[in-house]
Amino acid sequence: MAKRYILMHKNIPVADIVIDSASGSISAVNQTYMESHVPVGIPVIKGKLNRAALNEWWKGRAIPASRDGIKHALIDLNISTTQQLLEKSLGLSLSDQYWICPADSGIKWSDVNFFDNPFSDDVGNVLFGKGSSGDEISLISPDNTSDGWLKKKWQIIDGRRCLIKGGSGAIQQEPYNEVLASRIMERLGIPHVSYTLMVQDDYPYSVCEDFITPQTELITAWYIMQTKQKPNHVSLYQHYLNSCEVLGIPRVVESLDRMMVLDYIIANEDRHQNNFGVIRSAETLEWGGPAPIYDSGSSLWFASPQALIGSTRKLTCKPFKNDHNEQIKLVTSFDWLDLSLLKGIDEEFREILRGSIFIDETRCDALCFALRKRVEMLASLVIKPAHMYRGEDLRFDVEKNVEYSKDQSKEEEWER
Ligand SMILES: Nc1ncnc2c1ncn2[C@@H]1O[C@H](COP(=O)(O)OP(=O)(O)OP(=O)(O)O)[C@@H](O)[C@H]1O
Ligand SMILES: [Mg+2]
Repeated sequence: MAKRYILMHKNIPVADIVIDSASGSISAVNQTYMESHVPVGIPVIKGKLNRAALNEWWKGRAIPASRDGIKHALIDLNISTTQQLLEKSLGLSLSDQYWICPADSGIKWSDVNFFDNPFSDDVGNVLFGKGSSGDEISLISPDNTSDGWLKKKWQIIDGRRCLIKGGSGAIQQEPYNEVLASRIMERLGIPHVSYTLMVQDDYPYSVCEDFITPQTELITAWYIMQTKQKPNHVSLYQHYLNSCEVLGIPRVVESLDRMMVLDYIIANEDRHQNNFGVIRSAETLEWGGPAPIYDSGSSLWFASPQALIGSTRKLTCKPFKNDHNEQIKLVTSFDWLDLSLLKGIDEEFREILRGSIFIDETRCDALCFALRKRVEMLASLVIKPAHMYRGEDLRFDVEKNVEYSKDQSKEEEWER
């Protein structure tokens, strides 16, 4: 069965679409009403939205099929795909303002959005493997549009929308890492989402508040980069900067400098293109600048056995380089960075980890030692001016980059 909807951006009708209820996918895109409000990165050719791209975007709003425990949850909910779940909650999210309005239903954003309207814990509890409170499960939940592979649920705590996120595997380290990353960024003055720790039935969870408001939205780097074709000779880093520049997004270089420094310190392995982005006004479409840093939990050897903690042997890096030692060379300035502010951070990490039944003392020692080493390694890089450690290959990465050309002229002067 196919059903007609209007793709909405808060109160603005964007396009007329048809959703196939069996698959939950967009089977047709009809009239476009407001081209400027089409989701960022979706091509519009001669006034018509690209159906395939819009469908990918729509499917990307659903809980990923790789989510921990999703198969059992779908059975409990008696639903066959996460896309169907998405349709049940009209695609409403707590990270942006897009949704679908059943044609001729007269439903308004103010009646249904999750920022102002309460929502049930049912889906969240099922996703956490806890079953639901009553016989009638409410499928209307912002959890239906939550991304990422870790178990997570939105909950209203003291009137605030909070994201509660678990850890993975036998070590369950991610929530502790999120808290540590918050403390590091707090000390270094890096704009960030603040995570606190919650322990329930011995399992750790990180809790953070929604950083999006009814007036704003998160647009991840992935979609920013879809707004422009990336020529083969342009690096991903440069492509992101170029895309942001064309759109007029401010303060991107400074913010990437800070993100890459944090990720170097915590040996983050999962800063993929949906784990950072920018904020824009959902109403005026004005760019607010880079989003505060979120999702830093897949770091500090979170999935490695103790023997590998501190080792760079199997450590990967994203998004711009696959090695942190290369990625850190993209940082244009360390002038803002005072590493002395991290004095004692290893002991603070020990305090954060205290009480975990998954992380024993030897693992804790290894983690604290490795963290201190990362700070020391960064310190030894920072004392050298950027132009002295930048490799030849990186000229390419930072071509057209103002900071680089300044450095380059300094370097040439220095070589003479
Ligand atoms: N505090 C927040 N406010 C608004 N949206 C958020 C917040 N935290 C996360 N999100 C959104 O939810 C998505 C999933 O959250 P998050 O990235 O923390 O989960 P994850 O399971 O760790 O993801 P991954 O698969 O990258 O490991 C994010 O990509 C972002 O779009
Ligand atoms: Mg993520």
